[in-house]
Amino acid sequence: MGDTVLSQFTQEKTEEKKQSGKRLKVGIIGTGWIAEAHVESYLEMDDVDIVAMADLIPGKAEKFAESYGVKNVRFYPSHKEMLDNEELDAVSVCTYNMTHAECTVYALEKGVNVLLEKPMCVTTEEAVEICRAEKKSGKILSIGFQPRLDDNMKMVKQIVSSGELGEIYYIQTGGGRRRGVPNSTFIEKKTAGIGAMGDIGCYSLDMVLNAIGYPKPLTVSGYTSAFFGNNPLYNNPEDAARFDVEDFAAAFVRLEGGIILDFRISWAMHLDTPGDTVILGKKGALRIPSTQCWNGSIGGPMTIYHDLAGNRVETVIPECKNEGKGLFYKKVRSFLDAILEGGAAPVPSDEILYNQIIIDYIVKSAELGRELEVVIPEI
Ligand SMILES: NC(=O)c1ccc[n+]([C@@H]2O[C@H](COP(=O)([O-])OP(=O)(O)OC[C@H]3O[C@@H](n4cnc5c(N)ncnc54)[C@H](O)[C@@H]3O)[C@@H](O)[C@H]2O)c1
Repeated sequence: MGDTVLSQFTQEKTEEKKQSGKRLKVGIIGTGWIAEAHVESYLEMDDVDIVAMADLIPGKAEKFAESYGVKNVRFYPSHKEMLDNEELDAVSVCTYNMTHAECTVYALEKGVNVLLEKPMCVTTEEAVEICRAEKKSGKILSIGFQPRLDDNMKMVKQIVSSGELGEIYYIQTGGGRRRGVPNSTFIEKKTAGIGAMGDIGCYSLDMVLNAIGYPKPLTVSGYTSAFFGNNPLYNNPEDAARFDVEDFAAAFVRLEGGIILDFRISWAMHLDTPGDTVILGKKGALRIPSTQCWNGSIGGPMTIYHDLAGNRVETVIPECKNEGKGLFYKKVRSFLDAILEGGAAPVPSDEILYNQIIIDYIVKSAELGRELEVVIPEI
């Protein structure tokens, strides 16, 4: 896999493979770039058979399977034909954002467990539809946020949950790049729906919202812009001509419990970083050094700022090493284990629903140029 982001998810071959009695029949919907990481993970597992692949582009799934030496696979021209004709235990939905909802809902309606790539989808309406289909199906739906499995991310949640920071009242999060507009299907509304927010913004939202227990968003005042991706000065002319999503976004979000979330994300700007993530509590604060592109980790050791015996002190939290398999393998395995063991989804949709709603309201608030009150339909 050529991308520097995913190449960091090195999967150690030495770890014992998990053994289980049942074999799982898995299908891959969408055989583009991220499907590579899914298939590489499945191929490492003793209890998985990849039996079907679907892609809208004729011949793409066939070539993809061949490149991985995956044999005995049936191929389909879309998710629908695959799900109509196969008896599957699980699918990986690896399509671009705009088809996440239709593929996921259809799979759940067919009684198939779903590992859905991030972001969950594009709009609030789609997210609600997905959650309703999941509830009705009784199947496992997990959303593909592999940074959740990073020990450093777990540490963020542990620190907040320990009460060391006291009651949280303000969070600044986000990050991004000085120049880092992707290409491919990420930059067009017709495939991606959203830009930097769907690519990397959803990760930084998940890091902090997961840490504080995903309180409900109440109001959102959002801003989006595109001054780089569509500009041939900063992007190659062909990509600039088709670029029609945001390359920068910012928002002021009020969350239940009186917590303020101050968010900004960038694919490109005249600045190295829009800042570290900070979580302010009444007893202490946590600084999480930003990363350029959300590869599933932190940009350096975190620091807690607090008072000790009347003195202002700083406690540096050593970086965790993340032992064993890579985060991507762990994400796929935790999904399959939830199916086999009847457990809860590792990254549950009722949490990511709020993540998606915040992103959607940023888009809508930016279009209208004013703050919006969040209305969440019943699931
Ligand atoms: N978790 C991660 O680290 C990570 C990294 C990169 C991308 N992603 C996510 O993965 C998703 C896909 O990204 P990508 O770079 O692989 O995109 P891509 O464009 O390379 O691949 C998507 C594929 O899905 C196919 N497709 C779309 N709708 C389909 C349908 N209904 N049935 C069958 N095939 C369909 C397309 O033809 C295309 O080949 C995006 O949502 C992205 O945000 C996640």
